Amino acid sequence: MTSTPLLDVTDLRLSYATEAGELPAVDGISFSIQEGEALGLVGESGAGKSSVALTLLRLWPRNGRLVSGQMKLSGNNLFALSDDAFRRQVRWQQIAMVFQGASESLNPVLRVGTQIMEPLRVHRGASKQEAIQEARRALSLVYLPPEILDRYPHELSGGMKQRAVIAMALVLQPKVLILDEPTSALDVTTQAQIMDQLKDLKEQLNLGIIFITHDIALASDICDTIGVMYAGKMAEMGPAEAVLNTPQHPYAQLLLASVARIQQEEQPVSIPGVPPNLASLPSGCRFHPRCPKAFDRCSTELPNLIASPTGSLGACWLLEEKS
Ligand SMILES: Nc1ncnc2c1ncn2[C@@H]1O[C@H](COP(=O)(O)OP(=O)(O)OP(=O)(O)O)[C@@H](O)[C@H]1O
Ligand code: SF4
Ligand SMILES: [Mg+2]
Repeated sequence: MTSTPLLDVTDLRLSYATEAGELPAVDGISFSIQEGEALGLVGESGAGKSSVALTLLRLWPRNGRLVSGQMKLSGNNLFALSDDAFRRQVRWQQIAMVFQGASESLNPVLRVGTQIMEPLRVHRGASKQEAIQEARRALSLVYLPPEILDRYPHELSGGMKQRAVIAMALVLQPKVLILDEPTSALDVTTQAQIMDQLKDLKEQLNLGIIFITHDIALASDICDTIGVMYAGKMAEMGPAEAVLNTPQHPYAQLLLASVARIQQEEQPVSIPGVPPNLASLPSGCRFHPRCPKAFDRCSTELPNLIASPTGSLGACWLLEEKS
């Protein structure tokens, strides 16, 4: 018997109103994660990864419009909540996020401690003493000493700042943590340290993690499941091992081949062409203008996700022939 997922997302759709028309940035995304599990969302720039995250937190930009979707946390329908109830009960308390570039947007004139304690004051009405205690606990989760509370952001290294923003996201003890490109601004050694810490956190706190990155190799380090996004849709999603070792969708295959891997002798290849403009999407499969395996049907019919022989789901007509 499978248990109720920690987070269950169905048919999420978000569009942006622009002068060029409505852009379907998130176009029918579904996934679920269990406690202690990490889902990686990977794909090129503009695939819609951050838009998915912002939709989950109801923090989409003003020109964003939720078109459809269902979202359940431990079986409770979150989309049934009013914006006010969602803000009071869910955002930061149950689902927290480390935003893309967050460590660079720490307020330079406020001490780190003030910034970590703010959610405790706002959401929990914690006293100063309680807030200090909880902030210290959050810092210890990311192996930072309590003295950090008295420092200003410019007094911290890039890695320390990134850990501080992770501590900030964890201070209210959420069940789900969304990390949007959490290590992209860091050098390789610091990146590896943060990844190790995230793995510890996932285990220790039994956190559900959504790990967003353009780097599929990095996602493989922490993720149990990987979803490869292309132009607002899921191209392939499945157990990390299956997606990484035997990718079924031609885009996932090219994305993997574009990453240099130390043990492999082949040179990384680049993916031909560029992602489509969301205002004038190609007909049929959105990947067909770039796909080396495209055939007639691809330019006229949009494939849905179907089960592949490896256990992943792929949106590609070639899989229909295999099944
Ligand atoms: N407020 C907005 N108005 C109009 N279009 C937007 C807005 N925000 C994002 N987009 C567009 O939506 C698409 C998805 O953007 P998103 O930021 O979610 O992609 P991403 O996968 O996170 O990319 P990156 O890897 O560069 O962070 C892109 O085409 C982007 O240009
Ligand atoms: S459906 Fe066709 S164009 Fe799309 S990924 Fe598969 S083979 Fe390529
Ligand atoms: Mg992004």
